[in-house]
Amino acid sequence: MPEKIVFFGGTFDPPHTEHVNIAAAAAKRYRPDRLIVMPTAIPPHKSSIFAAKGADRLKMCKIAFSGIENVEVSDFEIKNGGKSYSYITLKKLRQDNPDADIVFAMGTDMLRTFSEWKNPNEILENCRIALIQRSGDESAEKTLFDFERQFGKKADVIDYVGQDVSSTECKISLMLALSPDNIPDGVLSYIRENSLYEPDEYFGFVVKNLPEKRRIHTKGVILEAINLAKNLKVDISKAVTAACLHDAAKYLDYRNYKDFSMPDGVPESVVHQYLGGYIAEKALGVTDGDIIEAITYHTTAKAGMCLLAKIIYVADMIERGRNFQGVETLRAKVYENFDEGFKACLEFTVEHLTREGKPIFYETLNAIKSYSIRE
Ligand SMILES: [Fe+2]
Ligand SMILES: [Fe+2]
Repeated sequence: MPEKIVFFGGTFDPPHTEHVNIAAAAAKRYRPDRLIVMPTAIPPHKSSIFAAKGADRLKMCKIAFSGIENVEVSDFEIKNGGKSYSYITLKKLRQDNPDADIVFAMGTDMLRTFSEWKNPNEILENCRIALIQRSGDESAEKTLFDFERQFGKKADVIDYVGQDVSSTECKISLMLALSPDNIPDGVLSYIRENSLYEPDEYFGFVVKNLPEKRRIHTKGVILEAINLAKNLKVDISKAVTAACLHDAAKYLDYRNYKDFSMPDGVPESVVHQYLGGYIAEKALGVTDGDIIEAITYHTTAKAGMCLLAKIIYVADMIERGRNFQGVETLRAKVYENFDEGFKACLEFTVEHLTREGKPIFYETLNAIKSYSIRE
């Protein structure tokens, strides 16, 4: 019998319970002689937000995967530095183990982007693929179908029971001082002991000034904004900053800021967008005009918004915590065609305000006029 090796790579920034579930499912299925967990150095197909150092990710992996038999955490890619490419790693693994049966285990998210990796065919020459799919994940079937059609190879499919978790979400929770639900206890202790994923100045301001409920909303807006920014090829770190700070002034009194000014007749519910823009610029030193604009018009919108401002406006409205009637339709529209979805959000707001008999701020009217005319 050839030696059986299961390879499981990822950024593991940080490793979470789903990573452990995937590795455990692969271990159960293959009973490998070696299960190699390998954190990447700088991921070529993933942009990282607030990344932990390689040495810390290695240590967190050792803790997270310690309960799995025959596991070894490899520093090969981190030691090599630079960008990590799976085709190089798998080639090396094959060279070192010419006769082994090598299985590359991955979750649906990884397999979905497989065709965008460097030299995917070369990877397939050196191993076979196992898709470890979460039960109930409807996207898995299509991902598998696309992979098999594109590469003419069958992947093993292994089901496991788990939840939809992302490292990004874990990190954002930590940085907003919200309890991250899906980090193994030992990893969480390591994170706390080593002050990883601590709030930076922007997140720190939000943690200090927003109650938990509003921080949960802020997390939803950040995650939604990241998704939209990825789709629309907008700088993700700008989207994170704008989303993080969009409601930063929600509970602050503008009268405490002597130099602060805003247009006349601003409704009370709208004040915080102007104060938020002011604080971002003056107190927190944000210099990027798009970010300031996104914060300053996230409630009312305005004519001629930059793409980032539209993203924050939309993300604020459709983030996963929103459950008003009609939100599902708006979400679908936004992800089908962003511009149309943005306009639908704007129109929805105006209709809602009209129904409630509330005044519509002039910036919103300008926005409606400008985006409708363009049609
Ligand atoms: Fe707001
Ligand atoms: Fe908000």
